[in-house]
Amino acid sequence: MTGKLKIFTLPLMQKNNVYIETYGCQMNVADTEIVLGILKKQGYDVTDKPDNADIILLNTCSIRENAEQRIYGRLGNFKTLKTQRPEVIVGILGCMAERLKKDLIEEKKIVDLVVGPDEYRRLPEYIDVAFNGDKGIGVKLSRTETYDDIEPHREDGLSAWISVMRGCDKFCTFCVVPFTRGRERSRSLESVVKEVESLSARRFKDVTLLGQNVNSYLDEQFANGGDFADLLAAVAKVDRTMRVRFTTSHPQDLSDKLLHTIAKHPNLCNHIHLPVQSGSNRILELMNRTYTVEHYLDLIERAKRIIPGVSFSTDIIAGFPTETWEDHLATLDVMRQVRYDGAYMFKYSPREGTKAFKMNDDVTEEIKSKRLQEIIELQQQISFEKNQELIGKEETVLVEGFSRKSDDFYAGRTDSNKVVIISADRNIQPGTYVKVKINKATHATLFGELMNEVQIDDEKIVLSV
Ligand code: SAH
Ligand code: SF4
Ligand code: F3S
Repeated sequence: MTGKLKIFTLPLMQKNNVYIETYGCQMNVADTEIVLGILKKQGYDVTDKPDNADIILLNTCSIRENAEQRIYGRLGNFKTLKTQRPEVIVGILGCMAERLKKDLIEEKKIVDLVVGPDEYRRLPEYIDVAFNGDKGIGVKLSRTETYDDIEPHREDGLSAWISVMRGCDKFCTFCVVPFTRGRERSRSLESVVKEVESLSARRFKDVTLLGQNVNSYLDEQFANGGDFADLLAAVAKVDRTMRVRFTTSHPQDLSDKLLHTIAKHPNLCNHIHLPVQSGSNRILELMNRTYTVEHYLDLIERAKRIIPGVSFSTDIIAGFPTETWEDHLATLDVMRQVRYDGAYMFKYSPREGTKAFKMNDDVTEEIKSKRLQEIIELQQQISFEKNQELIGKEETVLVEGFSRKSDDFYAGRTDSNKVVIISADRNIQPGTYVKVKINKATHATLFGELMNEVQIDDEKIVLSV
């Protein structure tokens, strides 16, 4: 019997499962979505298990020494996996890639790929280089890259983050970001608005616009202005049932126009993250923060006048070079005056290449720890007192889903981003706004009961727009 011999060819071994872990700030979270957007377009699949991955990527942070130590620890974990499956590609993305460049590859043999924040477009090329047995290195910074046209890969959900600008030109003396992220540049207003429209169509309810200093945002092509206040107003108009937040504002550049814009649009959250760093003018000057405590407090007062009920959060560094006991007390004093809703609090960590690195890191580890502890305790006390003041008050809460501890409770968020726990009511879907009366509070969490009279599924009424 004759017949054609059928030849079965095995498909080429496809190496396309990507696993990625994200460290650092929200900008890295947003960048990971851009990276996955780029890779998915090239035919890669995303996996949530390193064991199934052909490519393992760590999107890293360099802001403090311990952020980098964590990554070295994680690389140690992947060593075993790489011994068992030497063909797996291990790549470092993000700020550590940019800071350490090829040193990372020389130091850590398991690293095949080092790609900084402005080179993600070429990541597929660098991955190919690594699969061919070479090391893929892409660490050029760009003055123009904003990934404006890239569609980020986002899972469905309620909250989303959008980078509206990249880089930082402030050069605070303690900070690596201007070196790892390069110069400031903004996305077009139009492209941000389009992205928010598509999030609205997917029923996202909470969007945060991101930048290291969003007040420097500027779309020069935009006909009538195009500063950050204009961007916020345009985004707020897309969907009145979508809450809009932003971070971070530098205290030097926050304009009255921006404050009035926040006051005008009900879905722009009445909450401003305004890092103070220190309460001492001498230290602020050494940090090159370019404002004084007086300017900062005046700004807080103006914001309170223009935006009724506005709340603030901040960042604080303990133990900057030469910080005295008096400087430390001045920081505690500012905290008492502003009464922040929340704060991110850190021990100063010297970063090579920054100006402060050349200063003598003369505050001992023990004193740094002690001061940080005092700052944390004061903030917890203030947060507790402020949350106690909310007892008996009504808050509009966006229900996000079951609480972490129990399916009998829902967790949601207030306009000022505080977590509220309420009894789970099966008639309410996550993504709905409800009025809640607060009846209990700790320093970190509010507890409340659903108010009956509210038409929970009429979001427009609840938000009164
Ligand atoms: N662009 C934002 C902050 C980005 S980094 C801003 O200017 O507010 C987030 C926070 O990390 C900073 O506000 C600062 O408080 C802290 N930080 C930055 N570098 C640090 C360092 N070397 N040591 C300790 N904390 C640092
Ligand atoms: Fe760093 Fe200062 Fe820029 Fe913030 S504003 S990213 S602290 S240099
Ligand atoms: Fe870290 Fe880079 Fe963000 S250093 S804080 S990941 S900008």
